[in-house]
Amino acid sequence: MRVAIFDTKPYDRRFFDEANDGRHDLVFFEPRLSYNTAKLALDFPAICVFVHDSLDTRTVKRLSEGQTRLIALRSAGFNNVDLGAAHYYKMTVVRVPAYSPHSIAEHTVGLLLALNRRLHRAYNRVREGNFALEGLLGFDLHGKTVGIVGTGKIGTNTARILCGFGCNLLAFDPYPNPVIENELCGRYVDLDELLSESDVVSLHVPLTPDTQHLIGRRALNKMKEGAILINTSRGQLIDTAEAIDALKDGRLGGLGLDVYEEEDGLFFEDLSNQVIQDDVFARLLTFPNVIVTAHQAFFTAEALQNIAKTTLDNISEYEETGSSGNAVSLDQVKA
Ligand code: NAI
Repeated sequence: MRVAIFDTKPYDRRFFDEANDGRHDLVFFEPRLSYNTAKLALDFPAICVFVHDSLDTRTVKRLSEGQTRLIALRSAGFNNVDLGAAHYYKMTVVRVPAYSPHSIAEHTVGLLLALNRRLHRAYNRVREGNFALEGLLGFDLHGKTVGIVGTGKIGTNTARILCGFGCNLLAFDPYPNPVIENELCGRYVDLDELLSESDVVSLHVPLTPDTQHLIGRRALNKMKEGAILINTSRGQLIDTAEAIDALKDGRLGGLGLDVYEEEDGLFFEDLSNQVIQDDVFARLLTFPNVIVTAHQAFFTAEALQNIAKTTLDNISEYEETGSSGNAVSLDQVKA
């Protein structure tokens, strides 16, 4: 099948070419998919997109005016797709539900360790010949309480790692995973109790209308004074302006982010020669107790191999049967 792959970098090309093995005719485009670039896809029956490609109503409509009938997401989340429009225009949407929950869980714990032990500051100090320890004081994770919000694949993997550290785990999820209480050291509680009892809170829920700004002023006020908040899920789970206020008055002790509300205009590009126009983001970068990585939690060789293989398998399955076990249905909760 001819596939137009949008928003590609050299690493995408490498892993897709390796996994393809001549199965499909892959054409790699650098631009992101938008209404304006959709015309590049007009004679492709399938397109492949990532998290910052926009499939809003008019883009989906424009795609439907050409040959495109399959939208293959090379991501787990599909909050960037207007599923109603895709359904209306009879497009099939497929995704990669799991590619390496370990990659994101391990990055989550990496952010937590770096923040707590001030590794980002220590790295710079030592390179400048400053071997003083003032300002680098951390705490033992052993014996501390970590709250896991969302215990699906990634949340459960994060919980497993933190159990190994000797943490106490609290969990919140409307659909509890028995593994958390039966095999791991966790206990399900309601969200308010999790927020008020945890030294560290880590978010692993999909972005839906219900979870947008899940952590805003109210939730931040519930949290333990000085607690650390980690978000490797979706930026819009946190009201960033409120988080900045909580950092300024010390209610929030640290913030580790791999995702940011307005990341679309920033992440995945080298903007080092430009002035950052997003003042909220620029303010975040001024805090010594904030670490931001640019949506790289998924970025391991194993994850990229799995993403490429599953995406191409989804396309093959669609080509052979007209559907796929990884198709996203209209009524599926947006992830
Ligand atoms: P999953 O679908 O396995 O688990 C999500 C869990 O959240 C489910 O158990 C669900 O019941 C729960 N949930 C839904 N609404 C909730 C709420 N209001 N409160 C508490 N729990 C709620 O998803 P998975 O694979 O664990 O991924 C989690 C999120 O991680 C994804 O939705 C995506 O946004 C993000 N992600 C980030 C990546 C990165 O590179 N930073 C890469 C891949 C995923």
